[in-house]
Amino acid sequence: MAILEIYKYPASVLRDKSAPIGQIDSSIKRLASDMLETMYAAPGVGLAAPQVGVLKRLVVIDIAHEAKDRNPLVMINPQILYSAGEITGEEGCLSIPEVYGDVSRARLVRVKFLDLEEVVHELTAEDLLARVIQHELDHLDGVLFIDRMSKVKRDLLKSQLRKKAKLAAR
Ligand code: NI
Repeated sequence: MAILEIYKYPASVLRDKSAPIGQIDSSIKRLASDMLETMYAAPGVGLAAPQVGVLKRLVVIDIAHEAKDRNPLVMINPQILYSAGEITGEEGCLSIPEVYGDVSRARLVRVKFLDLEEVVHELTAEDLLARVIQHELDHLDGVLFIDRMSKVKRDLLKSQLRKKAKLAAR
């Protein structure tokens, strides 16, 4: 296993659309285990393949607070079948460090995905898990949580992020 580099905003790979995974071979299995290790080390509750520079439809998620409660979810080619309700909550992203903001999401989602053994799963998730699933699936379409914030907050944030990027580039 290895800890991978997490691409940071405004890296262009974060804006591209990821491709479906055909064969779940050893390189996909290695990617999933490296992504889990990277997510736990960060630490974070979710990580999508484009965040480590790979444009494939794979996300890893674990909302457990403590190592002893770990319950890693690997989702390949995930699709939201339906969603219900609406709830606003704070989000952050490993690709946009130190930035947090309120985002409205569905409170419940039903998601279909493949695991590493190519078994099809359907999972109904609520609240935090539903939020993390929606956030990570957005990454597969090049969408970031800041895109889903209110326009006023988003514009303010983007100008701050631009300044930060300029300073870092010096
Ligand atoms: Ni994110």
